Amino acid sequence: MQTIVGQVARGEDFWDRKDEMEDIWKAIESGSHILISAPRRVGKTSIMYKVVDEPKEGYIPIYVNTESADSQQEFWQKLFHALVEEEFVNGLKAQAYLFWKKLKGIKIKKISSKGVEFGDGAELGFIDAFKQLIKDLDSDKKLLIMIDEFAQTIENIIKFEDEKKAVNLLKNHRELRQDRKFCEKVTFVYAGSIGLESVVAKIDASRHINDLNSIKVKPLEKDDAKKFVHELFKANLKKISQKNIEYLLNMIEWLIPFHIQLIVQEVVKLQRNNQNIQSSAIDRAFDEALEHKQYFESWLSKIKTSFKNEEFIFAKMVLNKISEEQAVEYKHIVNLASKNNMDEEDAKAVIRSLVYDGYINNNDQPKIYRFNSPLLRMWWLRNVAN
Ligand SMILES: Nc1ncnc2c1ncn2[C@@H]1O[C@H](COP(=O)(O)OP(=O)(O)O)[C@@H](O)[C@H]1O
Ligand SMILES: [Mg+2]
Repeated sequence: MQTIVGQVARGEDFWDRKDEMEDIWKAIESGSHILISAPRRVGKTSIMYKVVDEPKEGYIPIYVNTESADSQQEFWQKLFHALVEEEFVNGLKAQAYLFWKKLKGIKIKKISSKGVEFGDGAELGFIDAFKQLIKDLDSDKKLLIMIDEFAQTIENIIKFEDEKKAVNLLKNHRELRQDRKFCEKVTFVYAGSIGLESVVAKIDASRHINDLNSIKVKPLEKDDAKKFVHELFKANLKKISQKNIEYLLNMIEWLIPFHIQLIVQEVVKLQRNNQNIQSSAIDRAFDEALEHKQYFESWLSKIKTSFKNEEFIFAKMVLNKISEEQAVEYKHIVNLASKNNMDEEDAKAVIRSLVYDGYINNNDQPKIYRFNSPLLRMWWLRNVAN
């Protein structure tokens, strides 16, 4: 095991997410289509790769990230390309011979706004093209199509095309998921760091995703996190006492693997010449971690791009206040909203999405909001609020 900070954690470096993996496979085997949801950097993509790397017998997983797709057409392009991509196709040879042969034989000439033009001259709309492609899949294997950053794609389409096209894509997917024959051969697994639920709610399209089985990825449990920290230090040839593990985890508070990896990395750098980790190094590691601006800036840019301007200003004010005061009562948040001439319902929607996207929570007391992560709070306080 190695410390991995930022990239997908795969193979030996993947810290087991037993509950999540179990939930996902159970859902897949029961025939549901899945939505994996969690805020950014909680570990969704790593979990998807775990499915890709170690599929259960009878499944052929394929991973595609559609974050950069700005239109329906680009979305389908990415999906088709993933399916005919050399690496994927060659990997199939041994497991799904018929499917491999079928894919090998398909020539896609062009993907246009209308659909797909195949090499044999046939032109089909995206859904039919997709069904066509799937039709000859070996009947004893099921394709798991894992679409990462799907909500981002929907948001991009709303922004760069229009709402109608975004709804259309959601409907297309729904239609595929309702096709019994198609579902015998394909399961969709969607994921994304922004909540698909909140994106589709904005365009009044929730009914098009209400058939999805939603699986939440949670931060690590304390005991599990303790073992993870221990293993990470061990892999770096360092020793840390139980007391210091406890100290480190209490400081991280929001126990997502990413924050654990980040802090461990910094502690190891600070203790280069020391085999035994000291608590003073843990304190300093937090400051060092905050210097990695690229890890935190996306939290700011995310709300800038996904909220309308007045919502963004309000969200920023709320986060500034919580970063300064650590805990803020709901009534003060409502005050901020009215100062901005925002009605309470709109303000509530903003707060809901900040909770959903992993910025803040009201877990301890329903009327009091705080940051999930003290690291993010500190970064916000230093770089945004001041
Ligand atoms: N299962 C895991 N084992 C070890 N590290 C992980 C694991 N999951 C996530 N991480 C850490 O978190 C970071 C972000 O993980 P990633 O899977 O990209 O999250 P997401 O897709 O939710 O944004 C990784 O670079 C790694 O540092
Ligand atoms: Mg990801």
